[in-house]
Amino acid sequence: MEHTQRQLTLLEKEEEEQAKVEVWKYVFGFSKIAVVKCAIELGIADAIESHGSPISLLELSATIKCDPSSLYRIMRFLIHHHIFKEIHPKIKLDPKSYAQTPLSRCLLKSSKNSMAAFIMLESSPVMLAPWHGLSARVQANGTSSPAFEAVHGEDVWSFAAANPGHSELINEAMACDARLSLPALIESCLEVFNGIETIVDVGGGDGTSLSLLVKACPWIARGINFDLPHVVCVAKESERVENVGGDMFDSIPKADAAIIKSVLHDWGDEETLKEWGYVLTEAGFSRHSVTPINAVQSVIQAFP
Ligand SMILES: C[S@@+](CC[C@H](N)C(=O)[O-])C[C@H]1O[C@@H](n2cnc3c(N)ncnc32)[C@H](O)[C@@H]1O
Repeated sequence: MEHTQRQLTLLEKEEEEQAKVEVWKYVFGFSKIAVVKCAIELGIADAIESHGSPISLLELSATIKCDPSSLYRIMRFLIHHHIFKEIHPKIKLDPKSYAQTPLSRCLLKSSKNSMAAFIMLESSPVMLAPWHGLSARVQANGTSSPAFEAVHGEDVWSFAAANPGHSELINEAMACDARLSLPALIESCLEVFNGIETIVDVGGGDGTSLSLLVKACPWIARGINFDLPHVVCVAKESERVENVGGDMFDSIPKADAAIIKSVLHDWGDEETLKEWGYVLTEAGFSRHSVTPINAVQSVIQAFP
């Protein structure tokens, strides 16, 4: 008994010591996202990628035109967090150099796996502001207006309509996700789209999802990228895809099938599944299935 108590005390002491270290992660918790955002803005990953091989501090600072000593501190942070890696020289007196990792390639401004635009959206002052009201929202027990509205005075879509710069951030962030998740969907369950000649993507953003899907399904004659007018007026043009503006709460263009991706996701997993079951039954579908794919999303198919 005495032995167990002594051990517990030791364990508790260790936990106390650990806590004193851990708490600093929260004191400066914002720094990780601030430094990653800085890396994207400076184009560090892009500069290393175009250099084609590991790059020294002086080469990198000359390429992105910034002070080597400040850049050194940024790189040290990014290397500590395994975002870039440091290559030690074969010849002792040569400088160390920096190289890409799969994670740093996600910070490239334009590449297949880029998540840079998504990071830029979520770390923007507009998107961060509502987080400062989190405790007030929790205390309001669900009676307050949504966090975004409480800060900005209107919902995110009206705000985007009035602020083209923010709308562009949203559209580019969504396109990042589409470039990652659509190939996963196409690889896992292309047969879902067999026999479909017309398809509407409800809340389809800048049309990236639909253009990838239509390209993979040559039998789809017409894709309709349906979104709010301020989104479709700047959406991409692509073959067999028509951009149509409107409000999904008024009406949705008719087609053989509809996709709704990353639109009805304001609930937790359990509630979303229940909600979907209800919506689909009410809409007259007799059954539906949920298929996980190699992405954070799953595919929900509804059958008449
Ligand atoms: C989170 S984004 C998803 C975009 C796209 N589906 C994707 O996954 O890449 C939600 C989209 O719904 C659109 N949206 C919001 N309210 C809408 C409405 N009432 N009618 C049509 N689209 C709407 C937004 O403009 C936005 O493009």
